[in-house]
Amino acid sequence: MADHVKHFHGVWPHGLKGLVSATATLIFFFFLVVIAALLNWMDIKTSFGQAILTSPSAGIHHDRIEYPLNCSNVHNLTQTCPDDYPSVFEPEESTTEACPDYFRWIHQDLKQWKSSGITEDMIERGIPSADSRLVIVDGNAYVEKYRPGFQTRGAFTIWGILQLLRLYPGRVPDLDLLFFSGDRPQIMKRDYKRPNATSPPPVFHYCGEKAALDIVFPDWTFWGWAEVNIPPWEQMLRAIKKGMEKVKWENRQPYAYWKGNPRVSADRIDLLKCNLSDKNDWNVRVYKKDWRKEIGQGFQNSKLEDQCTHRYKIYVEGAAWSVSEKYILACNSMTLMVKPRYYDFFSRTMVPMRHYWPIRRRNKCRDLKFAVEWGNNHTREAQTIGKAGSKYIEEMLAMRNVYDYMFHLLNEYSKLLKFKPTIPPKAQRVCAETAACSEKGLWKEFMVQSMVKSPSDKLPCTLPAPYEPRAIQASLDAEVKITKQVETWGTEYWKKRNDKKQ
Ligand SMILES: *[C@@H]1O[C@H](CO)[C@@H](O)[C@H](O)[C@H]1NC(C)=O
Ligand SMILES: *[C@@H]1O[C@H](CO)[C@@H](O)[C@H](O)[C@H]1NC(C)=O
Ligand SMILES: *[C@@H]1O[C@H](CO)[C@@H](O)[C@H](O)[C@H]1NC(C)=O
Ligand SMILES: *[C@@H]1O[C@H](CO)[C@@H](O)[C@H](O)[C@H]1NC(C)=O
Ligand SMILES: *[C@@H]1O[C@H](CO)[C@@H](O)[C@H](O)[C@H]1NC(C)=O
Repeated sequence: MADHVKHFHGVWPHGLKGLVSATATLIFFFFLVVIAALLNWMDIKTSFGQAILTSPSAGIHHDRIEYPLNCSNVHNLTQTCPDDYPSVFEPEESTTEACPDYFRWIHQDLKQWKSSGITEDMIERGIPSADSRLVIVDGNAYVEKYRPGFQTRGAFTIWGILQLLRLYPGRVPDLDLLFFSGDRPQIMKRDYKRPNATSPPPVFHYCGEKAALDIVFPDWTFWGWAEVNIPPWEQMLRAIKKGMEKVKWENRQPYAYWKGNPRVSADRIDLLKCNLSDKNDWNVRVYKKDWRKEIGQGFQNSKLEDQCTHRYKIYVEGAAWSVSEKYILACNSMTLMVKPRYYDFFSRTMVPMRHYWPIRRRNKCRDLKFAVEWGNNHTREAQTIGKAGSKYIEEMLAMRNVYDYMFHLLNEYSKLLKFKPTIPPKAQRVCAETAACSEKGLWKEFMVQSMVKSPSDKLPCTLPAPYEPRAIQASLDAEVKITKQVETWGTEYWKKRNDKKQ
């Protein structure tokens, strides 16, 4: 234990000398224990087998029949769905593995409706907050569009659900749900607190926040983001991993890097102030991404796989959560995370100082400078955090896990329905063929790339039990504590620097 502490003293240099009084050491010990306990508790038992569902030839399943896109069924100029895709699911293996811990948040996100259940009336009331409605009856999907939404978002989200149906045919239960494909959460708790307020409608969306009740679902980029040339996640991750090998961590630029569209949030505009200038060097290098220009240049300068060139990468939210998170974390660079307000489905089990370094929203430039300098002084530790962040992303977001998360969320949701879903009169049947056959270019290419070609050979993982409320509180408390400690180091670092100057 003494060695351990000595090691830690070497690693965390700031303000710790002052701490070496008996009581302070005790407090520090406590802090270590809390981190250790937390890390242990959060240790994620993952099971991710064949990530590459779309190429069974890579595994032992060369005898599995593949069902490519079958665009030959056109009747009266309308694409119809083929009827030869299996409608039942016959896994070869009957054993299942436990899902990762972050799946536990599924219970938390549905808790609001646990005792009341979900009525048809609740869903009707949620329509003004939604872009579309998805109904599954007997394994077939039907969509009713209320608003055009953001084009590829809605279409690729539905595409993802269609792939889930192909992966586990006959397993996804009948359901009726609303989807919102914009940025900010829609269902705010405060609107349902008045004495006469109705119960909140369940609405699926890509992100949530403390003040909202949106049910968090994987975003469209797992199947590709056609407008900006970002391929499906599996292909993108492979490219990032390959690109990453080009520059070893030690040889990467010893600065914090960010590239994106700053105009979508005050925090991003604020980040621009930390860029290198005649007056200051905050160890930050930020670049504006002008999508219109990038499109004009064929995206040559916006390739994500060419952006693992710096030892540190900044994550800062956009209008809400940002899909950039997983690409940033995937680089093996230490992620400097500007305190997020929103969460997506996988981010709630990430731990500060284990997967990323926390940065205050209010104190960005100073915190960033300190973090980068610390990392350059402690390259081994910085690399460890960088690698742990990437490992988390790679393992937790293996497509198998993404599909299993969707499966369990939909399954748990359907258990809450108090009515038998029926096909809405204005809804249209959708399948891979109706979604992809008439598309062109990247849109079509990404759909073909991310298509599930055969049913799974194994069952979904088993959903872990809900968190105890106390466990959630304990993890939040621990997170606050670690973050506070890092902030204190930053504050002390700046105090010392300023003292020296005077
Ligand atoms: C073909 O489609 C047109 C327009 O949607 C419709 O009016 C017509 O009845 C259809 N014909 C057949 C044979 O289904
Ligand atoms: C396409 O679907 C039709 C109808 O389900 C089927 O008869 C045909 O064999 C399929 N074609 C291919 C290439 O799988
Ligand atoms: C609650 O509803 C009742 C009956 O509809 C109405 O008289 C009352 O004003 C409402 N109260 C509030 C706070 O809206
Ligand atoms: C930040 O500074 C770098 C280096 O001077 C420069 O190339 C870049 O354009 C700057 N970024 C912004 C957004 O101004
Ligand atoms: C990094 O090391 C230098 C030289 O030893 C030291 O002056 C500086 O305070 C250190 N900074 C941090 C953040 O560890």
